[in-house]
Amino acid sequence: MAHPIAPLLRADIPGAERLVAQAGWNQVAADWELFIELGAGFKVVGDDGTVIATAAILPSSASFGWISMVLVDTAHRRRGLATQLLQACIEKLQAQQRVPALDATPAGREVYRPLGFRDGWAITRWRAARALVAPQEGAHAVKGAHAQNGAYEVRPLRDEDWPAVRALDAPAFGGDRGTLLARLASRSREFACVAVSRGRVEGFLLGRDGRSATQLGPIVATNEDCACALLAHALTHVEGPVLVDALARHEAFARQLTAAGFAVERGYTRMALGGEGDFGDDNVLIAIAGPELG
Ligand SMILES: CC(C)(COP(=O)(O)OP(=O)(O)OC[C@H]1O[C@@H](n2cnc3c(N)ncnc32)[C@H](O)[C@@H]1OP(=O)(O)O)[C@@H](O)C(=O)NCCC(=O)NCCS
Repeated sequence: MAHPIAPLLRADIPGAERLVAQAGWNQVAADWELFIELGAGFKVVGDDGTVIATAAILPSSASFGWISMVLVDTAHRRRGLATQLLQACIEKLQAQQRVPALDATPAGREVYRPLGFRDGWAITRWRAARALVAPQEGAHAVKGAHAQNGAYEVRPLRDEDWPAVRALDAPAFGGDRGTLLARLASRSREFACVAVSRGRVEGFLLGRDGRSATQLGPIVATNEDCACALLAHALTHVEGPVLVDALARHEAFARQLTAAGFAVERGYTRMALGGEGDFGDDNVLIAIAGPELG
């Protein structure tokens, strides 16, 4: 029997957070608020009113939208709940003329493939219990607000950097997501930074707090050296566990993560249902914001 799917409201956030903790995911209440404000959340409740399954959508760009937070209580799995929620998300996005896209865990990929989703980029999740600031080739490791890392001056993000940051991000991600980036900047004030070379912003790094770790991302940079310089800067300002979801193809960046004490935790696959596959530029998108945001 089909379970009714209802909108996820602010009052449901504690119930949704229970599913996040059960799955060992990293999102906090601010993430659910973001979905409710900028997109929409969905839930299925059990007989006793408990939230037993969730999903969320975000209008990522004019042409595509993100599906995420597909979580089913362990006691209610393999009964079609994820598939039903997925279908509701797909209908909403397609009614908005947006191609549904997502970053799938290996288990999620098994649900999405039968629905017609096709594989795109491979993404690697890296985690460090406590990251180190590893020296970079040609870099002068300077601890503090400003650091000269190789060819780049890396400094905290300033208000006047926004036009350059958005101009770098839009082609990298495949759409203008200025509102989302501003949210992430407000949650990463201690470490949000830009890399400048010859007066031009060549890269930026944002992030956010999480349930079990600080997430660094997105990281957008004109090359991997620039991304490594941004990473080194951020790591001087972050304490405790850190997560980075990097595109698997960036090997120099992966070496820098390893040198900084990160290890691979799992893989994700970027997937889309239909469309032309125009989801940004993997030359300059070094790390995503997170699988739930793209
Ligand atoms: C992945 C998850 C959302 C699936 O939820 P679910 O409600 O059990 O999924 P469904 O019942 O709709 O499954 C539909 C089909 O997907 C496949 N599938 C689902 N879970 C699977 C798994 N763990 N391994 C392999 N195939 C799986 C099966 O083909 C299944 O059909 P079947 O039960 O008739 O064999 C759930 O296991 C979960 O919350 N996992 C932890 C969080 C997570 O990884 N979410 C996905 C994020 S991308």
